Amino acid sequence: AYDPARRLARLQVSLERAAVNARMLYEILDTVPHQRDRPDATELKLGEATVELRDVRFAYGNGEEILKGVSFRAEGGKTTALVGPSGAGKSTIISLIPRFYDPHAGEILIDGQNIAGVTKQSLRNGLAYVSQQPYLFEGSIRDNIRYGRPEATDAEVEEAARLAYAHDFILAQPQGYDTPVGEQGITLSGGQRQRLSIARAL
Ligand SMILES: Nc1ncnc2c1ncn2[C@@H]1O[C@H](COP(=O)(O)OP(=O)(O)OP(=O)(O)O)[C@@H](O)[C@H]1O
Ligand SMILES: [Mg+2]
Repeated sequence: AYDPARRLARLQVSLERAAVNARMLYEILDTVPHQRDRPDATELKLGEATVELRDVRFAYGNGEEILKGVSFRAEGGKTTALVGPSGAGKSTIISLIPRFYDPHAGEILIDGQNIAGVTKQSLRNGLAYVSQQPYLFEGSIRDNIRYGRPEATDAEVEEAARLAYAHDFILAQPQGYDTPVGEQGITLSGGQRQRLSIARAL
């Protein structure tokens, strides 16, 4: 009986540790977001997807103002590149579009609709975002691409990978789509990580 009893005692410790982790998870899940939907929020109606910034001002917290009246128009159906020195605020501008932050003044319009007045769900459904530091989760390449839409079939995962020009280098990995990535997995180049992140967004 000694060994089972010892295992039971150890189980108590791991249960308590798991309970603490679960509590931390729920604290995050229960956090009320700063950018709540307005009570009268409408669904974003996407057409050409023209994005327009009008005199946008923004600062992180109480820090110095980073965006001091930014205005531009990115026409739908065209590619727009934002170019500027490091630290100028390009990533900051992009993070305002999915409403990770809200501008302090000015407005952002998509197809003429102010994004402050649409539901975040409909806004983010219409966006694909690939960050400057793409994050890969523990798991296979396939898991990482499917993360964006868990119900996607293997064929759809592969299609997304082809569109992101990731298919060929994935097949070159030791176990193809089943190759583990993340902290325990293989090391990928920055560009390869970005391609997986693009496939995930697709
Ligand atoms: N989360 C944050 N909190 C506080 N300050 C931030 C935060 N993110 C960026 N900044 C600051 O805002 C400014 C603009 O940063 P941003 O990341 O938008 O620049 P960037 O134009 O994308 O630069 P890069 O070309 O290097 O990617 C910088 O001074 C930066 O230090
Ligand atoms: Mg940047």
